Amino acid sequence: MSSVQERLDALREQLRHHSYLYHVLDDPEIPDIEYDRLMRDLQHLEAEHPELITPDSPTQRVGEKPIEGFSTVTHRLPMLSLDNAFTEEELRDFDQRVRKRLELDDGDIAYAAEPKLDGAAISLMYVNGVLEVAATRGDGTTGEDVTHNARTIESIPLRIRGNDYPDVLEVRGEVFMPRAGFEAYNAAARETGEKTFVNPRNAAAGSLRQLDPKLTASRPLDIYVYSTGFVENGELPNTHSDVLMQLQEWGFKVCPERKRVSGVDGCLDFYRDIGDRRGALSYDIDGVVYKVDSLALQRDLGFVSRAPRWAIAHKFPAQEELTVVKAVEFQVGRTGALTPVARLEPVFVGGVTVSNATLHNIDELHRKDVRVGDTVVVRRAGDVIPEVASVITSKRPDGAKPVELPDRCPVCGSAVVREDGEAVARCTGGLFCEAQRTEALKHFVSRKAMDIEGLGAKLIEQLVAQEMLHTPAEIYSLDLEALSGLERMGEKSAANVIAAIDKSRETTLERFLFALGIREVGEATARSLANHFGTLEAIVEAPEEELQNVPDVGPIVAGRIRHFLDEPQNLEVIRGLRERGVAWPDREPQQAPADGPFSGKTVVVTGTLPDMTRNEAKALIMQLGGKVAGSVSGKTDYLVYGDKAGSKLSKAESLGVETLDAEQFAKIVSGS
Ligand code: IVH
Repeated sequence: MSSVQERLDALREQLRHHSYLYHVLDDPEIPDIEYDRLMRDLQHLEAEHPELITPDSPTQRVGEKPIEGFSTVTHRLPMLSLDNAFTEEELRDFDQRVRKRLELDDGDIAYAAEPKLDGAAISLMYVNGVLEVAATRGDGTTGEDVTHNARTIESIPLRIRGNDYPDVLEVRGEVFMPRAGFEAYNAAARETGEKTFVNPRNAAAGSLRQLDPKLTASRPLDIYVYSTGFVENGELPNTHSDVLMQLQEWGFKVCPERKRVSGVDGCLDFYRDIGDRRGALSYDIDGVVYKVDSLALQRDLGFVSRAPRWAIAHKFPAQEELTVVKAVEFQVGRTGALTPVARLEPVFVGGVTVSNATLHNIDELHRKDVRVGDTVVVRRAGDVIPEVASVITSKRPDGAKPVELPDRCPVCGSAVVREDGEAVARCTGGLFCEAQRTEALKHFVSRKAMDIEGLGAKLIEQLVAQEMLHTPAEIYSLDLEALSGLERMGEKSAANVIAAIDKSRETTLERFLFALGIREVGEATARSLANHFGTLEAIVEAPEEELQNVPDVGPIVAGRIRHFLDEPQNLEVIRGLRERGVAWPDREPQQAPADGPFSGKTVVVTGTLPDMTRNEAKALIMQLGGKVAGSVSGKTDYLVYGDKAGSKLSKAESLGVETLDAEQFAKIVSGS
């Protein structure tokens, strides 16, 4: 039997190894469950022998208590900034200066090109291989001690891998919040009325400067390291590219989008390539950094004031710009929700001209206090819809008044109400409201609903505006003559639309239910309703309590369904649709088993699963007796998570909710 110390060492070693494969190389060898099991084993062993716990143990990422305040750290070597180039010409000037200074008249310089990450700079000081101090950049000379928070970032090693590292090694890099995590964080914050972050950079910097490491641990932070700093007693390779390779071997995460290029033209190729793919990267970058690759040449070149002569940041067009708000209007959606939208002086940002930006909801509008005439920061990153990130209040014109929620719908004039505790205000006009009608019709024909190809958003708008379409049932009365009379509609496309309408008559109960657009009834709920009841009649007749027996239907959803089906207008539409030939096969009702593996359990699904869509996973859970919920709370029994699981996973972990990865989930489902 090996000694406790040997077992501790072995477990820690394995955990470090697998964490490295997972976080740094992005190439895990074992399923997460196995990793969790090793971690639990280590936790148990350490609990039995607390005297053997070391600060670099993988269990020691989140400290017990918040710190009282930040202490200052003086950087052993200053943390410099970079000069910027905004144009190709400025980049060519930089290369000229480099060559002139090195007296290299011909021949290209080898540059290391890498993305300029948009996060917060950090310095990580390792003494004898163990993370001792982590500090922010601060003013470049002194920063703040954020060791307690850096330790919570899984991709920051607590101990360097291997044993050939310098006695003292400072590693520098950028802590950032991946875009998906940022969006999820803000969406959750908007829902709970908490403050949102303006952009992922602020989110990263703000999260790093928390007193309570538990808060930092709950934020989806990551790091890419981009250089060394102070080094004592140890050798480093001769080029920047090789230093990064060495850092990766030592267990640090480096950005895979890096390349050794030759001369300015090589730099520009890299710049264009990454620029084309910028929106598809999972994190924000604001440019490219080129560094003279040879460290000897870097030394020859040296520094000017705060920036090295051997590197330059080549900036991309901004993802944030200033512009002026011309008006704030309220858009009415399918369920009547009023969304405030800022109409803007057109501005080129994130590669497109933006003239509208969402303000999400009335609370968010008031929190940001956007007023007509305000100068605002507009942000558009990746394919995310443009939004007003913040207001420059110092530029506010005199007399600008806060925007109020209208008490009448701007489209139909019906009363606007806001239910207690709801972030959204709604128009009460229902299908009387042209905006709601139009959106309801768009939803009705959409791909996952009745799937009427060719009857797109524009055509629906045209038909509604011309008073040719009022309810979904009327779609099935449209004829060739009426359609081909429309502007920009040829005979052939009209015939195609009619054929598509005809084809959609044959459908399924779940598609039909989803198409009706009942509030809170998404695809998954529609499917459970169809499975549970088998026929539309059974659903129409079901009292609220019976509806609540459906796996993912709670009191609120049951209430919404009843409310919809008790409305004579809606029943009229349903009747109209059936009269016009919309039909589906009925089937036997299917009740959830009382003894399934998920019976009585509430399950949340998040991330991308390898073998099925999230909706398929949800349907399976329901078939096996479980209830599916949309968000993680104290009432959640399991979180099933796939790739790119964001804030739900961290929330589940912080609440101690049991998590199942794809493999564990598949095992339960297959009954093995
Ligand atoms: S090198 C002397 N490489 O940009 C070299 N910096 O304006 C300075 N940054 O504070 C750093 N990505 O936080 C370097 N690939 C990268 C970078 C990068 C982002 C940040 C860094 C620094 C700022 C300099």
